[in-house]
Amino acid sequence: MSNVALGIDIGGSGIKAAYVDVASGALVTERVRLPTPRPSTPRAVVETVGEVCELVRASAPELTPVARGAAFPAVVRGGVTLSAANVDRAWIGYAAEERLSEALGNSVCVLNDADAAGLAELGFGAVRGVSGVALVLTIGTGVGSALFADGTLAPNTELGHLAFRAHASVEDWVSDRARRAEGLSWKRWTGRLNAYLDHLSVLFSPELIVLGGGVSKRFEDKIAPRLRLRTPVRAAALRNDAGIVGAAWHASRVVRL
Ligand code: BGC
Repeated sequence: MSNVALGIDIGGSGIKAAYVDVASGALVTERVRLPTPRPSTPRAVVETVGEVCELVRASAPELTPVARGAAFPAVVRGGVTLSAANVDRAWIGYAAEERLSEALGNSVCVLNDADAAGLAELGFGAVRGVSGVALVLTIGTGVGSALFADGTLAPNTELGHLAFRAHASVEDWVSDRARRAEGLSWKRWTGRLNAYLDHLSVLFSPELIVLGGGVSKRFEDKIAPRLRLRTPVRAAALRNDAGIVGAAWHASRVVRL
């Protein structure tokens, strides 16, 4: 039976998808990307997801995915999106799984984007084989989190929305968007990151913290040398494809191969 699943990553700026070999975590087609519609209303986004998936299908008509998963930047419970920090507010309370399944003509499994990235790290990257508590953070426009205990995910942790120091939501202070918007040097921004990670270390005593998202490209040269933490910190292994791979892998495990 086929090991191929469709992975979709819905972000604030782009919607990406590819077929994934869920045994290895490798993409088996080129990644297709279209810009996220503005405003990012559910109807417009669902339509663009349909277009992206059609392009993937057309690029490999000989492949039939056994499952379909979509990562979305919000709290997702029972297939319903329950928050909207960086997307249109109409997503709050939207039956995303039902609507996407209708649009694609097949059942789609929807999960939080950081949870998807974390699952990709668990299956194929930096969290593989890690026992105890591991924390995966995606740092980009927002800050997402995936918390694992002995390889089991506690979904929707939203640690980017912790109140910290004077900030109602720490992502406004420590995201990559904040770094760019405030023109912070890597030194100053990493100082903020260090304070945030230190706080998370006190709260969760993780064995490992994994950093993903846009900033992970600069982990080795700009970030790692400046971190002063007792908890080991590593860069995510899957980088750009983490959402796609995690969504596909998750869906393939929900819908049995
Ligand atoms: C959202 C999370 C998401 C993160 C990264 C946050 O603003 O609340 O659900 O995982 O951004 O996209």
